[in-house]
Amino acid sequence: MRVLVTGSAGFIGGAVAATLEHAGHDVVRVDAMLPMAHGATEPPAGTHAVDVRDAEALAALLDGVDAVSHQAAMVGAGIRVADLPDFAAHNDLGTAVVLAAMHEAGVDRLVLASSMVVYGEGRYTCPDHGDQVPPPRSRAALEAGDVDNHCPKCGRVLGWALVDETARLDPRSSYAASKVAQEHYAASWVRQADASAVALRYHNVYGPGMPRDTPYSGVAAMFRSSLERGERPQVYEDGGQMRDFVHVSDVARANLLALESVAAAGPGRYAAYNVCSGRPVSILRVAELVGAGTGIEPEVTGGYRLGDVRHVVASPERARTELGFAAEVDPDEGLPAFATAPLRN
Ligand SMILES: NC(=O)c1ccc[n+]([C@@H]2O[C@H](COP(=O)([O-])OP(=O)(O)OC[C@H]3O[C@@H](n4cnc5c(N)ncnc54)[C@H](O)[C@@H]3O)[C@@H](O)[C@H]2O)c1
Ligand SMILES: [Zn+2]
Repeated sequence: MRVLVTGSAGFIGGAVAATLEHAGHDVVRVDAMLPMAHGATEPPAGTHAVDVRDAEALAALLDGVDAVSHQAAMVGAGIRVADLPDFAAHNDLGTAVVLAAMHEAGVDRLVLASSMVVYGEGRYTCPDHGDQVPPPRSRAALEAGDVDNHCPKCGRVLGWALVDETARLDPRSSYAASKVAQEHYAASWVRQADASAVALRYHNVYGPGMPRDTPYSGVAAMFRSSLERGERPQVYEDGGQMRDFVHVSDVARANLLALESVAAAGPGRYAAYNVCSGRPVSILRVAELVGAGTGIEPEVTGGYRLGDVRHVVASPERARTELGFAAEVDPDEGLPAFATAPLRN
């Protein structure tokens, strides 16, 4: 297949493009080289320095293309209000332009990079009252060291459970809102254009090529940067926050499988899948694993960031049964190896 990969100079897009090529696909690489992601770096050889909002430039590149793997996005925590127009521009408008250009060019297969942030919070259960949707944790509670969510009916501490793809979408930031919008645009394009699409909801992705310690990079890179400075990784709350860490090589393979499934699907099919390792890990354990062998112990600070969620842990079941995807890299091995993997500057 000839596949146009957007965001191909990025952390995940680069791995996806390489994996598709390795599998024998012909890849067209597109990346606008956002300064936020790349500073003043020149595009890598073979990359078309095109902004996905440029319909004309896309039209020329879509000639002969069978499918698009849309990885390009402005990423980050989406906390700064001032960034709202940029999230909407790169992610919402960018996706809309890509979809319209695909339709114009007769390209009807899409794999979309989505995110666990579409869920907002994870799933919580009370031993007596079953699934519960707790209110956001208050500043007063966090200040007092009460980091857990409590059952609205009985006040007991809620345990975590696996989030599946049927969970309610509940974006909590401008970034998350733009990722939900991308999925919604893709789903409506599938109906309007008689096309097919798969959205992959990546969980915490880590591995070689991950951006260095910036306000926008993931916690694994931040822990690693602390260790490189000889400082103890700072772990917020009690370190018991549960997450799913999935290696970028597994994410790339999930993309390959999704592409094959999209190619095999008839028109009108839209599906979303969690892309996760299926091996939940606490944030304290992540800090310990990344620091394994350094002799530097993480420090549980009891600090907190308002808006952080307590637990988000995904079910890998649907991706396993429908895409045939199961992660190969166990965080117990992948996270210590990440300590010495090359990062992007
Ligand atoms: N890293 C994670 O843990 C994670 C988790 C969930 C979802 N995702 C999603 O995966 C995708 C890739 O993220 P990443 O972590 O590799 O980030 P990244 O910043 O490394 O890569 C994104 C790439 O997209 C490019 N880009 C942005 N806007 C563009 C535009 N308008 N036109 C063309 N190119 C543009 C950037 O220059 C960059 O190279 C994104 O869609 C992101 O939302 C990432
Ligand atoms: Zn209860």
